[in-house]
Amino acid sequence: MELDIATPRWAVPLLQPSRYKGAHGGRGSGKSHFFAERLVEDCVVNKNLRAVCIREVQKSIRFSSKQLIADKINALGVSHLFDIQRDLIKRVGGEGVILFQGMQDHTADSIKSLEGFDRAWIEEAQNISATSLRLLRPTIRGDDSEIWASWNPKSKDDAIDVFLRGELAPSNSIVVEVNVADNPFATQTLLDEYADDRRRAIKMQQAGDANAWNLFEWVWHGAYLEFSEAIIFSGRYVVDEFEPQPDWTEVYYGSDWGFAQDPTTLNRMFEHDNILYIRDEAHQVGCEIDHLPDLFDKVPGARTHEIRADNSRPETISYMKRQGFKIKAADKWPGSVEDGITFMKKYKQIVIHPDCPETAKEFKVYSYKVNKAGDVLPEILDLHNHHMDGIRYGLQPLIRNRKRQAPATGGTRTF
Ligand SMILES: Nc1ncnc2c1ncn2[C@@H]1O[C@H](COP(=O)(O)OP(=O)(O)OP(=O)(O)O)[C@@H](O)[C@H]1O
Ligand SMILES: [Mg+2]
Repeated sequence: MELDIATPRWAVPLLQPSRYKGAHGGRGSGKSHFFAERLVEDCVVNKNLRAVCIREVQKSIRFSSKQLIADKINALGVSHLFDIQRDLIKRVGGEGVILFQGMQDHTADSIKSLEGFDRAWIEEAQNISATSLRLLRPTIRGDDSEIWASWNPKSKDDAIDVFLRGELAPSNSIVVEVNVADNPFATQTLLDEYADDRRRAIKMQQAGDANAWNLFEWVWHGAYLEFSEAIIFSGRYVVDEFEPQPDWTEVYYGSDWGFAQDPTTLNRMFEHDNILYIRDEAHQVGCEIDHLPDLFDKVPGARTHEIRADNSRPETISYMKRQGFKIKAADKWPGSVEDGITFMKKYKQIVIHPDCPETAKEFKVYSYKVNKAGDVLPEILDLHNHHMDGIRYGLQPLIRNRKRQAPATGGTRTF
């Protein structure tokens, strides 16, 4: 029989067979529904398929995926193929079964009851312990068996994140990220909740709640819940839509040149009402010099406004001038990076337009060095700083002005 299941675009990579499959992301993105549907489909196709839905802790069957799977069986019109019992679901006409279990209820011995199972779906996998994962993996051992995980990430040190997203992630794994904006089935109520939460987080941050945005990103965008003091712009920026208004005359363009692995960047930003608005970005790794004009032309007004750029490549600046750009080298001075950061931190808020995903990524992780004891050092890590540097170059006249106006330090003081 054929099942008619609409697959959301984000889930297409997960349709092919793979030993490990993972979907992580924010609330309401469709992770649970997708895996529940796949499981029903697999059970329809193979009447002997044995599957187990796993959580680290499952206080009762009510806290399992059973209801969702039962709903999917009904929605897909295949109830005649299943016998839905109190604690499990059986496949009619075969040996197939779907169990619901908590890993905490298992021991190294009892887990062996799952040998020969073809599917294990770990729901809320951010809670699975390293021990549980280690016990489970070799247990699900049949040919073509698969282990699935769906989760809302919390920490990059959680067992599932280390396993499926860490440096040593298995090669036979397919892992996708998904958020509510990718969920074509999202209800209006859910989307309103998202928009509302976003507005609230932005307001709360402006009012001085440095964690509001981090929390929002954790809940809705699947970001790790981190309040690291080492993150330089933590609590100072948000990602939100806006349009520059005709009276926003403070517009600046800043660029950083890429080398080998590093991207060449250009940003257009506005200063208004003590808020820094970053509206556009251009970003390309390995951009050849003759492609630079095209790259810059992605940013509106790049040919009609002054651009300030990294001064380390005078020949590139000359080339861009010959191509008709009003571009000049930005000054650097001892401590110019720190001065730029201090300057940018004084804004009431930094608002990054969603059209600038690479810029937003840098703001999220740009950090100070941390020593082995976990102390934050007053030195800046030379990483994730391409847009960051470009933005500083763009704002450089403002940074310098502010610096000149700053009261002189040192010298003698008389009382
Ligand atoms: N395949 C689908 N068919 C019908 N509705 C869906 C489907 N996928 C998602 N939805 C709708 O989107 C909502 C969110 O989906 P789902 O519960 O699967 O998200 P999730 O990523 O598991 O969220 P959470 O992180 O909150 O557990 C559902 O409540 C449902 O309304
Ligand atoms: Mg879910």
